[in-house]
Amino acid sequence: MRTVLVTGSNGLIGSAAVSFFAKKAQLIVGIDNNMRKHFFGDDGDTKWNEKNLKNKFKNFISHNIDIRNFKELKTIFKKYNSDIDLIIHTAAQPSHDWAVNDPILDFEVNANGTLNLLQLTNLYSNNTVFIFTSTNKVYGNRPNTLPLVELENRWELDPDHTFYPRGIDETMSIDNTTHSLFGASKIAADIMTQEYGKYFGIKTGIFRAGCLTGPFHSGVKLHGFLSYLIKCAINDITYTINGYKGKQVRDNLHSYDLINMFWHFYQNPKIGEVYNVGGGRYSNCSILEAIDQIQKITNKKINSKYKKENRKGDHVWWISDIDKYRKHYPEWNFSYDLKKIISEISSEMLDR
Ligand SMILES: NC(=O)c1ccc[n+]([C@@H]2O[C@H](COP(=O)([O-])OP(=O)(O)OC[C@H]3O[C@@H](n4cnc5c(N)ncnc54)[C@H](O)[C@@H]3O)[C@@H](O)[C@H]2O)c1
Repeated sequence: MRTVLVTGSNGLIGSAAVSFFAKKAQLIVGIDNNMRKHFFGDDGDTKWNEKNLKNKFKNFISHNIDIRNFKELKTIFKKYNSDIDLIIHTAAQPSHDWAVNDPILDFEVNANGTLNLLQLTNLYSNNTVFIFTSTNKVYGNRPNTLPLVELENRWELDPDHTFYPRGIDETMSIDNTTHSLFGASKIAADIMTQEYGKYFGIKTGIFRAGCLTGPFHSGVKLHGFLSYLIKCAINDITYTINGYKGKQVRDNLHSYDLINMFWHFYQNPKIGEVYNVGGGRYSNCSILEAIDQIQKITNKKINSKYKKENRKGDHVWWISDIDKYRKHYPEWNFSYDLKKIISEISSEMLDR
């Protein structure tokens, strides 16, 4: 590969993309303005990760550019134009709770920023593969209308439901539900990325993820569930469980496994294709189960308090059906289950 462009290169998924493709491409061009610090304060600062990547990979360069700034982005596209073999777009305001603080900024980053990148791709690099990290929040509250049964430590889907064996697939409607403002700004970007595929023929892939995780997350209260929970264990911070008795279920996909999915997509790309991606039935937990696992692995007690009110837009039960992706890319497989994910995050965090 010649050049890979990664937006959000200091973040969890962006930095995993840099590490993965630095071994495959001549040059990795990162774009990140450390806006995570603006969103979440000092704990969200991602500069440590940028430094890390620069020390490790001599073929990695990064630019402090805001993806809202079309003019500055254009200089990058003009410079590398048809040399760009792959674009991995992860820069975002990533929290559905945060978006309500500043809906305009949220939309400008998530929707307009994505449109800037798509338009420049079409103008300068239209033979590239363009990957967009979307989210299961595009389905809004619809998953919460599924019939659930309450078990001792988790909510579970009714075993008679068609989604029970593998989870929720891409046939779920994205219409006529509450999405959260974040869900709406991500839908705009998701649809635009599909459209630049279907309308202009660009090889775009849209990956709607459940919880993504890994050791290089600047985990904060509002974003980065497992990373933040482990941080609470290690630093004796009290964790607040919001609603649903702590039995809400989410699946967890390691950043490496996601980037490996991108790699397989890149080698045999489709046009404007949408995939649900996540840990699926292989790697998922409720909050109570996560607390239990983390306590066992770290040997630390997590102090938690319970707030009855749930977070608006939180899914009670989300497990991604990744079967469509698996059928298109049968050589891909998981490298990380939940236990391995927790062990790796906690040992990296202790080192840091
Ligand atoms: N982490 C998850 O659980 C999860 C789940 C589903 C979808 N996603 C999506 O995956 C993508 C990556 O998520 P992540 O967890 O790596 O997030 P992250 O916050 O760790 O990384 C995003 C990076 O983008 C940068 N950034 C933000 N706004 C920017 C701007 N205007 N210009 C340039 N850089 C900017 C931030 O500084 C940060 O380093 C996001 O699009 C997110 O919506 C994440």
